[in-house]
Amino acid sequence: MNTATEKETAVKNAIILISDPLSEEGLQPLREAEGVELKIQTGMTPEELVKAVKEADALLVRSQTQVTREVIEAAGNLKVIGRAGVGVDNIDLEAATERGIIVVNAPDGNTNSAAEHTIAMMTALARNIPQAFLSLKEGKWDRKKFVGVELKEKTLGIVGLGRIGAEVARRAKGQRMSVIAYDPFLTQERAKEMGIAVGTLDEVVAAADFITVHTPLMKETRHLINADRFAKMKDGVRIINCARGGIIDEDALYDAIESGKVAGAALDVFETEPFTGHRLLDLPQVIATPHLGASTIEAQESVAIDVGRDVVRFFDGQPVRNP
Ligand code: NAD
Ligand code: MLT
Repeated sequence: MNTATEKETAVKNAIILISDPLSEEGLQPLREAEGVELKIQTGMTPEELVKAVKEADALLVRSQTQVTREVIEAAGNLKVIGRAGVGVDNIDLEAATERGIIVVNAPDGNTNSAAEHTIAMMTALARNIPQAFLSLKEGKWDRKKFVGVELKEKTLGIVGLGRIGAEVARRAKGQRMSVIAYDPFLTQERAKEMGIAVGTLDEVVAAADFITVHTPLMKETRHLINADRFAKMKDGVRIINCARGGIIDEDALYDAIESGKVAGAALDVFETEPFTGHRLLDLPQVIATPHLGASTIEAQESVAIDVGRDVVRFFDGQPVRNP
């Protein structure tokens, strides 16, 4: 048996379909891999994707492409799905596992960018920066309407203290905020090391002036922040979501803002994306960005390189780093 030839043949025949925009620099490891054919087809409809995936050996996506059971079942040759980013909630993992398709992601490459975006959104929310800029562009010089609040000496509640949550905690301490976090895996020792407090979810939401969520979206975290949880919060609390739409119940958030319970919300992610024409966007207390948490040159290069390398490793018969 000539394993070298078999391996070479496997690599030579690999068609890699890229269905979301990925950084060109990040694709370099794939372009340099011998015998790999890259097919870049972004912006496909679900029907177009089902067709395009038929011949693919690998599929590389960001968060836009929905890799549904239908897509996976249409993909006769598919061996690996690469997610250039963290969240794999756009991939039907059960269907992939049933077909023996391995899913790899890039868990570290955008941590810093997402943490920076969270802090930027919290600051913009506290100081009404987007609203004031819009008003100025409309030719108004209104200094009374946009009086904000300071971050200093406020309590930030962090739900989910993983990679991004922990980076947000470090930066918030730099703003002289107190931090209290809830994460089922957070120990008192680690919290002490980080100089933050630890609480149950209800304790965290009750103590915080600002609440930011950083969990994955899964069955257990869908609508983790719901009407009951809003009722337990301080009056005038501010909410930030730069993790995943669906962790916060958007209807409950709308009601909590309308009632005055929540003073404002900064949202980067939504239950349905693209998110346009939603009533939350009509509320002056809501500021939003179109899922830009990881949209920096550095993060996009980094996640594409990480996932590209893992896919090359896979076709090279080496263990992947981030299954
Ligand atoms: P991570 O896996 O490092 O951290 C997630 C943390 O959530 C873990 O510590 C885990 O223990 C905790 N957790 C799980 N279930 C929980 C629960 N029920 N309650 C509280 N905590 C719980 O992930 P990460 O890299 O920090 O990413 C966090 C989130 O941010 C993910 O949803 C990811 O998809 C999202 N994200 C968004 C952007 C963006 O562009 N907006 C960019 C990067 C990541
Ligand atoms: C992620 O989960 O990594 C983010 O949503 C970033 C992205 O895919 O753009």
